Amino acid sequence: SGLLSFTCWGSRKGRRKWTRRTGPGGERGCPHGASAPPQSWGSASAGPPVPPPWLCPLSPPPGLVALVTGGSSGLGRATAERLVQQGACVVLLDLPASQGAKVAAELGDNCAFAPADVTSAKEVEAALEVAKKRFGKLELAVNCAGVGIAVKTYNAKKDKVHELEDFQRVVNVNLVGTFNVTRLSARLMSQNPPDPDGHRGLVVNTASVAAFEGQVGQAAYSASKGGIVGMTLPIARDLAPLGIRVVTIAPGLFSTPLLAGLPERVRNFLGQQVPFPSRLGHPGEFAHLVQALAENPMINGEVVRLDGALRMQP
Ligand SMILES: NC(=O)c1ccc[n+]([C@@H]2O[C@H](COP(=O)([O-])OP(=O)(O)OC[C@H]3O[C@@H](n4cnc5c(N)ncnc54)[C@H](O)[C@@H]3O)[C@@H](O)[C@H]2O)c1
Repeated sequence: SGLLSFTCWGSRKGRRKWTRRTGPGGERGCPHGASAPPQSWGSASAGPPVPPPWLCPLSPPPGLVALVTGGSSGLGRATAERLVQQGACVVLLDLPASQGAKVAAELGDNCAFAPADVTSAKEVEAALEVAKKRFGKLELAVNCAGVGIAVKTYNAKKDKVHELEDFQRVVNVNLVGTFNVTRLSARLMSQNPPDPDGHRGLVVNTASVAAFEGQVGQAAYSASKGGIVGMTLPIARDLAPLGIRVVTIAPGLFSTPLLAGLPERVRNFLGQQVPFPSRLGHPGEFAHLVQALAENPMINGEVVRLDGALRMQP
């Protein structure tokens, strides 16, 4: 069984399955299992409060339904894989030319590929239709689609200014694309019946530590990621009345195809810049945090660095 079908307070042995069938008010709950723990959330009863299991109806599928953008590679792929392993259904959104169809096929019947560009309203709407038609709903949207460039604002040696189109493209994909997916996902999530705690959904964005410590050549990338950081709280506030949370992860250096192309010595050097653990992050560690965010309803409107205490140098 997976963590998404039970919460994980205490030791593994001590974990209890989220198996409640009805909430305090008789609301819809997990459809599986019979050993429901007594619910004390929000009450003054003895013992630690039991968090509301809004994401519990996961196993067997169709359980939680997620959309993962950029899902055919790197952090998005690892997230899609973990979610499916945990009993969720995943719509994997990526560019038509990506490996999306192949990755989705490998993940089986609980994963569907939706070829789309995150910057297109029409294409993202079509991808959300896949979630609705194939899996009936959407509870989690994970924005992983992104691009990066390394160009100086003005390179005096080459007398070359940063192309405006390049700046706009990066901001358009990373920032506008994230907002596009978020706004349209929120509409679909708002149709979910709320769980006993009022939850209807969660949006997880992917920024970067470059939002805070952009390096030379990262003007466009940092601007796009800084925009994601900046809009996290206002969107969380916008969507709070609907019971939809918004959380952003700011990864440090992760071993994805983005970095795989670098020579090993450069990868090792980059890994050594990380105080601890002194290595590149594994995409599975990103996916693990997505799951943790999904399981913890109190995290909202926040940016979480996932970087081994890395602070990028200029
Ligand atoms: N790898 C890292 O070290 C790192 C660090 C910080 C932040 N990030 C961010 O994490 C996210 C994922 O990065 P990754 O390393 O997995 O990269 P990746 O290149 O492996 O994956 C990115 C995916 O996004 C897709 N994509 C690009 N443009 C798209 C568009 N317009 N519409 C739909 N899909 C599109 C690509 O096809 C690809 O599958 C990015 O936003 C990146 O900026 C990565």
